[in-house]
Amino acid sequence: MGYALGETKFRFRAEFVEGKWQEGALTDDKFIHIHEASNVFHYGQALFEGLKAYKTKEGKIQLFRPELNFIRMNQSLRRLVMPELSEELFFKAITEVVKANKDDIPEYGKGQSLYIRPFAIGKGMNLGVKPSEEYIFSVFCNPVGVYFAGGLRALDFVTTDFDRASANGTGQVKVAGNYAASLYPRQQAIDAGYAGVIYLDPSTHSKIDEVGAANFFGITHDNVLVTPKSSSILPSITKRSILYIAEHMLGMKVEERECLIDNISEFKEAGACGTAAIITPIGSITHKGNKHVFSTEVGPTIKKLYDTLVGIYYGDIEAPEGWIREIK
Ligand code: PLP
Ligand code: COI
Repeated sequence: MGYALGETKFRFRAEFVEGKWQEGALTDDKFIHIHEASNVFHYGQALFEGLKAYKTKEGKIQLFRPELNFIRMNQSLRRLVMPELSEELFFKAITEVVKANKDDIPEYGKGQSLYIRPFAIGKGMNLGVKPSEEYIFSVFCNPVGVYFAGGLRALDFVTTDFDRASANGTGQVKVAGNYAASLYPRQQAIDAGYAGVIYLDPSTHSKIDEVGAANFFGITHDNVLVTPKSSSILPSITKRSILYIAEHMLGMKVEERECLIDNISEFKEAGACGTAAIITPIGSITHKGNKHVFSTEVGPTIKKLYDTLVGIYYGDIEAPEGWIREIK
């Protein structure tokens, strides 16, 4: 089961037929029976989102910035010429799935959460390369713990010569093809004993792009939080939140700019961030056989960012306005 700690009973499904999204409903059927010539199997009309529900100390259930997942899902849908979702349908699906599976949301204090996976696929008989006429939008969820083994521990990463996305490709959206392209380099890194892979910018291979399924950030020696600006990375909601926390809650300077791999020593701490990765400290980066070690320990700035972010997730720290949506 990998990252998931278990499965849940209910998921939401809605179909797009005859030019519009149907109402959709909960189902306990985890299988999807569709035509063998469906676009999802051949031409990659498939995309997803990832967000989490957290239980607070008082037992409230809360989502972290789900509006941003809604916006990004529609950006992905547009990029793959798939029909956009209304805000109403997106939130109906999420709310119903979380409520129907509420007994499976991990209790406060275990460092766990409920990972929610909205996705959309193209279906129907379609042999030529063109967009489908029919689609499925579905949301399922699983209780999860940590994504990278080891919890808040500094991990070792390695750069790859492969790209997950091209400069003007689909890197900025959360489409399945990006992940297909990432499996081989990831496997190579794991086989070589690393926790995961660092992608460089596809045009010049000189700048850090992303860390597998997470964004990269570094802390300079004068305590500026820097994160790459690139057209081929997924705009991470966690990254955006960390930038805000650093600037407005921890009083740090922040910069979005190029991060040259050959100038990696400008950072005293580095991390990977994402919904699944939360904040994972990077212990070292190996590039062309040279290992640059940041620290085997979790650095003090990353620890502060982590504690603030996770405090907000679980309701222990007051969230900036509009970040939390409670599910009642
Ligand atoms: N980059 C990639 C490729 C991802 O798959 C993810 C996960 O969603 C992220 C970055 C982090 O994005 P977010 O913080 O929105 O989860
Ligand atoms: C996420 O953080 O939501 C991701 O997409 C990572 C993942 C592919 C499990």
